[in-house]
Amino acid sequence: MASRRGAFALVAALCLLELARRGLAEEPAVPAMFVFGDSTVDVGNNNFLANCKANCKANYPRYGVDYPFQSPTGRFSNGYNLADQLAQKLGFDKSPPPYLSLPDVTIISQMSKGINFASGGSGLIDSTGWKVCTEVFNMSAQVQSFTSAVQKMGNGTADLISRSLIFINTGSNDLFEYTDFPSNTTRNDTEFLQSLVASYKGHLKDLYGAGARKFSVVSPSLVGCCPSQRAVAHDTNDLDFHGCSRAANGLSRQLYPMLGSMLRGLAADLPSMHYSLGDSVGMAELVLNGTVLPGANFTVLDRPCCGGGVGGCNGTAPLCLDRGSYLFWDNFHPTAAASNVFARELFFDPGAFVHPMNVHELAELRP
Ligand SMILES: *[C@@H]1O[C@H](CO)[C@@H](O)[C@H](O)[C@H]1NC(C)=O
Ligand SMILES: *[C@@H]1O[C@H](CO)[C@@H](O)[C@H](O)[C@H]1NC(C)=O
Ligand SMILES: *[C@@H]1O[C@H](CO)[C@@H](O)[C@H](O)[C@H]1NC(C)=O
Ligand SMILES: *[C@@H]1O[C@H](CO)[C@@H](O)[C@H](O)[C@H]1NC(C)=O
Ligand SMILES: *[C@@H]1O[C@H](CO)[C@@H](O)[C@H](O)[C@H]1NC(C)=O
Ligand SMILES: *[C@@H]1O[C@H](CO)[C@@H](O)[C@H](O)[C@H]1NC(C)=O
Ligand SMILES: *[C@@H]1O[C@H](CO)[C@@H](O)[C@H](O)[C@H]1NC(C)=O
Repeated sequence: MASRRGAFALVAALCLLELARRGLAEEPAVPAMFVFGDSTVDVGNNNFLANCKANCKANYPRYGVDYPFQSPTGRFSNGYNLADQLAQKLGFDKSPPPYLSLPDVTIISQMSKGINFASGGSGLIDSTGWKVCTEVFNMSAQVQSFTSAVQKMGNGTADLISRSLIFINTGSNDLFEYTDFPSNTTRNDTEFLQSLVASYKGHLKDLYGAGARKFSVVSPSLVGCCPSQRAVAHDTNDLDFHGCSRAANGLSRQLYPMLGSMLRGLAADLPSMHYSLGDSVGMAELVLNGTVLPGANFTVLDRPCCGGGVGGCNGTAPLCLDRGSYLFWDNFHPTAAASNVFARELFFDPGAFVHPMNVHELAELRP
């Protein structure tokens, strides 16, 4: 009893210290954060795409049911998504605003605080997402918008951009399309994954060319464990030991080390490039294995909290009450509670699931 009390007191004291440190410093760990990728980190860009279909938007209930004022902002989550939660670890309120929401005249001033370019449905290949969404803000367009905004800022910004954090979470939608639309009969998994890595490398070089130096890159998670993919893989031969689509998960498992070696090579070639690669496969597996983590006890791993079966999440779909115990919010996306665990790992993990350093260490580097 006494020792548990002691532990609580210690935790409380640490929290107060952390508050004091933040309060006194009042400075986030980096001047700005720039976010790229897909629906795991989109905070509303797709709301501004006229031809993007409703299933690729999240601007209606029950999305945002746990967000301030229960606002459906375009986040594919019940609350804050991974970009928000990583931003919060860095000392920001939440993710920077969606690029497509910004009037032209505000872009230059917003660049000094950060911008989110991510678009649900997009992937590493620019054509990814069009079948499902009709329109996405593809990765090349995201990167190009960033580089042209940097150019508009003119000289004197190199320091700001090089100290800022580039946060990228993409690639899952390419894997979904590859497994869901098996139209290309001559395909070769390795060649397909190599094409994704080559595309990733091109985008990173373009961002580096614009002055970015600190990259937090998240590998695609075990996409075969999404409720959508579990539903597709019926045959037990198609299932792995987590009960997920073996083929889809196989792609994620194969891709992670390929991204790792691409990043190692790039950092060796490009002076002062630094990165943190998050191993989403390992992090997902930790949770799927039933590991109880501090403040996170996920007991429902295979069903979404909102909707389910063939139906998506919408205002009339069934909604779970105990959202902290669900891994999935809808058929494709984690709950805010699960994103929080991932953000915490990306930021603080001492080396099990982030290489060669965590995002906290990356942010503190002075290039
Ligand atoms: C990517 O986006 C740009 C800008 O919207 C567009 O011009 C281009 O056609 C897109 N690429 C593909 C392959 O869809
Ligand atoms: C920025 O600086 C570079 C070299 O220092 C120079 O070549 C370039 O013209 C400058 N650009 C602007 C917009 O001032
Ligand atoms: C089919 O896959 C091969 C090998 O991955 C690739 O080179 C080719 O472009 C693909 N064709 C189509 C139509 O997607
Ligand atoms: C797939 O492509 C890789 C890389 O090009 C090659 O080494 C391998 O032999 C190919 N596999 C098949 C089954 O064609
Ligand atoms: C999850 O469990 C499997 C099977 O026991 C094991 O091989 C794997 O290493 C575990 N992964 C994590 C991250 O706990
Ligand atoms: C996790 O939740 C389950 C179901 O509510 C409960 O039985 C279990 O005791 C919890 N484990 C921990 C460590 O809190
Ligand atoms: C709303 O979601 C439910 C459950 O997922 C589904 O059955 C229904 O068709 C959806 N309604 C609309 C208008 O999409």
